[in-house]
Amino acid sequence: MSSQKPKEKIIIVDFGSQVTKLIARRVRDFKVFCEILIIKDLYKIKNYEGIKGIILSGGPSTVTKKKYLSIPKEIFLKKIPVLGICYGLQLISKLFGGSIKSLKTRREFGRAILYKKKQSLLTKNFFNIKKQSVWMSHQDAVTKLPKGFKVIASTKNSKLTIIENTKYKIYGVQFHPEVTHTENGKQIFNNFLFKICKIKKKWRVESEAKRIISDVRKTIKKDKVICALSGGVDSSVVALLINKAIKKNLICIMVDTGLMRKNEFKESYYLFKKKYKLNVKLINASKIFFKKIKDVSNPELKRKIIGNLFVKIFEKEAKKYKSIKYLAQGTLYPDIIESRSATGSKSAIIKSHHNVGGLPKRMNLKLLEPLKEFFKDEVRILGKSIGLIDSLRNKHPFPGPGLAIRIIGKITPEKIKILQEADNIYITELINQNLYNKIWQAYAALLPMKTVGVMGDTRTYEYTCLLRAVISEDGMSADYFNFPKEFLDKISNKIVNGVPGINRVVYDITSKPPSTIELE
Ligand code: XMP
Repeated sequence: MSSQKPKEKIIIVDFGSQVTKLIARRVRDFKVFCEILIIKDLYKIKNYEGIKGIILSGGPSTVTKKKYLSIPKEIFLKKIPVLGICYGLQLISKLFGGSIKSLKTRREFGRAILYKKKQSLLTKNFFNIKKQSVWMSHQDAVTKLPKGFKVIASTKNSKLTIIENTKYKIYGVQFHPEVTHTENGKQIFNNFLFKICKIKKKWRVESEAKRIISDVRKTIKKDKVICALSGGVDSSVVALLINKAIKKNLICIMVDTGLMRKNEFKESYYLFKKKYKLNVKLINASKIFFKKIKDVSNPELKRKIIGNLFVKIFEKEAKKYKSIKYLAQGTLYPDIIESRSATGSKSAIIKSHHNVGGLPKRMNLKLLEPLKEFFKDEVRILGKSIGLIDSLRNKHPFPGPGLAIRIIGKITPEKIKILQEADNIYITELINQNLYNKIWQAYAALLPMKTVGVMGDTRTYEYTCLLRAVISEDGMSADYFNFPKEFLDKISNKIVNGVPGINRVVYDITSKPPSTIELE
């Protein structure tokens, strides 16, 4: 897609750290545009104009070995400020003649106390009376200062924890300012961005909508685009943006699998059709979905059957429209980052994302992914700027296989109905008590067992409903939400009284890891 990127930006070079994404988050939180590049991408940059700073991430590589990940030394000599974090610091040290050793006595994992040695622009207002608590995760340590550098701060185990070369504006920190465990870590980014890189442009997600719409228009021209609209935040924002660009040439298809939340799908359909005037078609495929999964209890098999069937139905519908060239998807920035490795090699890819898997190739379609530069919370802001209503904009994520992976074991129409009712009571109560927007994701699930209860004078033998509510930044890790006891009392009572078929309610108090957010 052609694009007029904002003029000023920060480049983050990803050496494969698990937390590179957090660096980008911190930078964007300061309303500064940044891009995460793998080393290969760095070689493709012809013009460094507009690049106001470069951040080198941490990573599993080690400069103590013969072969290690590196970038051309010339990049450091352009007088573009560079901040190396963890491996980034070690690489800087190596390239500028320092020594790095892997010593058991020098490694640090977890909290460490950092002591200030000298003043630096990088650490202005960072220390709390000459020391600060920082988060470490390193085996190797810099043991000899590279030429032209000064020591700014040290810990007990590692003397060269913050170093700087003001002539070339090169800075290195051994700890991780991007993780929240480093106290006041944001101040390091604040100083680097505004005091050292002097980046001025205050980037606003809201103003990106105009650019995306214009890009889509230029890319698509008179061609047609098809979009699988689920009613979730990502696909809704994609559909609205593209609709603003090309109107009737966007065809949205909503496939009702029958495994959705109570009333939700039809309500979304009418909203898209009536309020947003989208060209949208609703396919009721619940019978066929149910037929295919009714005897399946294996979670992976459920997911596969539902995924394949979805693609088949969508493909059949799409074929009815001639001359479609593009498939629009709500791919987000984390999907892109997780789908590639630091070295660019395919073997190290963690996850491969395709929302409508296999379709673009099978149908000879090109992919249109207008949200691929954005994080989820930025997509919500974009949504607001183009008029997406709050209830949709703030909707919790919902998995493609829907309630099928929240009814553990075999699925029956009765179980779907019971779960829809319980989930509806739970979510409605969360909204009424102003808790919904404090939670990243909440849902009810149905466990595959019946237990004994007593209601009035009668013995019952019914299902157990499990409630889940988590807080998270991006779904990769999560903690359970700490409900007040009164809420748990109330919701348990409401569900047991309001949903025939359930006589017990349990609350899931596991974090991710070791659990996952979904149960299957
Ligand atoms: P887990 O269970 O892996 O979930 O901790 C992390 C996030 O991903 C969502 N999820 C899915 N989303 N298709 C989706 O579109 C899927 O098959 C799927 N499985 C999990 C889950 O709801 C949570 O937000």
